[in-house]
Amino acid sequence: TQRGELAVFPDAAAVADEAARRFVALAQAAIAERGRFTVALSGGSTPRAMHERLAAPPLSTAIDWERVFVYWGDERMVPPDDADSSYRMARDTLLAHVPIPAANIVPAPTVGGTPADAARAYAETLVAQFGQDVPEFDLILLGIGPDGHTASLFPGQPEPSAPSADLVVAVHDSPKPPPDRISFTYRLINAAHNIMFVVTGADKAEALNGVLHGPPNRAHLPAQGVQPTAGSLLWLVDRAAAQALGAS
Ligand code: 6PG
Repeated sequence: TQRGELAVFPDAAAVADEAARRFVALAQAAIAERGRFTVALSGGSTPRAMHERLAAPPLSTAIDWERVFVYWGDERMVPPDDADSSYRMARDTLLAHVPIPAANIVPAPTVGGTPADAARAYAETLVAQFGQDVPEFDLILLGIGPDGHTASLFPGQPEPSAPSADLVVAVHDSPKPPPDRISFTYRLINAAHNIMFVVTGADKAEALNGVLHGPPNRAHLPAQGVQPTAGSLLWLVDRAAAQALGAS
C-alpha cells in the first residue's frame, strides 16, 4: 500500500516552514502548468503555523493569489464566523492577509441546511468548478487526530467511501466537537495530485505509527485510507509525533 514519503523535522516550527515552502512550490508549478492552483485546507490547530508563514513576506508575495482557488477538505456545520469554523480559522490566519479574490474562496455551505444538504451541495459545486466527475485537487492538506482520524473521517463510523459517487459525506456524531460536519471521502481525497499530511506533537505519535506501520485497517485508523491513486503523498512531521516510529 502507498505509505508515501516521510520527512521528520526538529519541531513544529520547522514543519510549518517546510509545509509553507512546499505549498508555494506546488502553487507555482500548478499555475505555471495549468494557470491555476486548487487547494483544500484542513481544520484544527496545526495548520495555523503554516498559514501564518504563507500570510507574510517572503512567501505571501511568492504566489499569484489571483490564480489560487481555496476549498476545505472538511468543515464543521457552524456559521462561517463561528470560532469552530475551519473557514474562519483560514480567513483569520491566511486569507484575510493575501490578495486572493473573494470568488476564489469556496467554503462549504454550512448554514441553512442539514449536513447531508451541505455535502450534496458542496460536491455539486466541486464537480461544476473542476469540470470533472471526481475533482482532482492540486493539493489536499490533511492532519490526523490522536485516534487516527483525518479530515472528518472518524474511527468506527460508517465507511463513507462506498463505491458510490459520494465525494463529500455528512458526519453526524464526530467524537471531536462539534459533532456535525461534512468531509471529503477517500474517493475524492485519493484523486488529488498531491496530498500533504502535517502532523506535530507527541499526542499524535501512537496514531502516526499505527497509520504508517500498523496493519491496514482504515475503519480503525481512517488516515490509512488516504492512498492517492496517482498523486504524491507526503508526511511532514516533527520529532515529537515521530517518536513511536522506531529507527526511521
Ligand atoms: C478538524 C480537522 C481534523 C484535524 C485533526 C488534527 O476538523 O479539526 O479536519 O481532521 O486535522 O483533528 O487537528 P489538530 O491540528 O488540531 O491537532
